[in-house]
Amino acid sequence: MSCGILEPDARNITLAAERLRAGGLVAMPTETVYGLAANALDDRAVASIYATKERPQFNPLIVHLPTKEDAARYAVITPLAQQLMDTYWPGPCTLVLQRAQDCPLSLLVSAGLDTVALRMPAHPVAQALLKEAKLPLAAPSANRSGRVSPTLPAHVEAEFKNSAAEVLILNGGACAVGVESTVIDARGHAPVILRHGSITHEMLAQKFGPVEEALKDSPLHSPGMLASHYAPNAALRMNVQHADAGEALLAFGPDAPTGKNVKNLSATGDLTEASANLFAYLRELDDTGYARIAVMPIPDRGLGVAINDRLKRASTPRG
Ligand code: TXA
Ligand code: MG
Repeated sequence: MSCGILEPDARNITLAAERLRAGGLVAMPTETVYGLAANALDDRAVASIYATKERPQFNPLIVHLPTKEDAARYAVITPLAQQLMDTYWPGPCTLVLQRAQDCPLSLLVSAGLDTVALRMPAHPVAQALLKEAKLPLAAPSANRSGRVSPTLPAHVEAEFKNSAAEVLILNGGACAVGVESTVIDARGHAPVILRHGSITHEMLAQKFGPVEEALKDSPLHSPGMLASHYAPNAALRMNVQHADAGEALLAFGPDAPTGKNVKNLSATGDLTEASANLFAYLRELDDTGYARIAVMPIPDRGLGVAINDRLKRASTPRG
């Protein structure tokens, strides 16, 4: 057992910050999902993230910052990026930007690209840790590669308890948002969405005019959009009203069936509640050992777009 869940009091925040400065790994709660954090200035520390996650090397990592002002040390801040930061930071908004000329961040966080993804998280425990560590923190979701993202400390523990690496887990309770941040390429004049999240296309369009979405074959296309990135072990059968024999049901809405094999993302049909429950319920149904999970239709609007995006990827067989 190489994990420990710690309460985020001042002593443990100091302990976690020391661990990070020494090149270690800390599972950090954020408002979206738990992140597996390491010093983004330290290649070995960053490499240990990839190793612990067993993550494909070509997938770049998000760098978390304690303040807005830090962003200019690491990346070229376009007027659009400044506006997005002023509007959404701290919050679930990740900006992909050109690396600054003398950017001290590990090249590994960019996985070979000349861009870097930056975000300032809103969760008070993440903020306390970033301020105490005085470091930029690379932090992908704290799950092994290809598994669903953790939204509770116990999820993180389940992921890494058999891992060779030591992971110190800070208990920040359940993540409020439940799906990862919206990833936006902000190098140009218009935002380009690379990954859907709780800051939606509609919200961005209202404030910033035309919004683009990266095409599947575009070089801008976020590697995180790889089809099977979020696959649970069980197969998913999409857009159905009932589970067949031997299936679990991921339900949605007031008219859904109930039962032992059913988890309802939101009985009131609330997409925010559904997002917060998504990964925990997928994981729970996956862990009950059903070979297949039937999934009821989720409205494809607002946060439903991000949910369906994850489900679509989870339902794509891994090759
Ligand atoms: O909410 C979140 O964003 C969580 C929490 C922990 O902050 N983090 C997270 O990190 O989801 P990760 O590594 O699992 O996802 C990073 C996403 C991926 O889709 C990745 O491909 C994209 O950001 N990304 C990172 N750097 C990029 C870059 N330079 N260019 C394009 N996409 C990038
Ligand atoms: Mg992830």
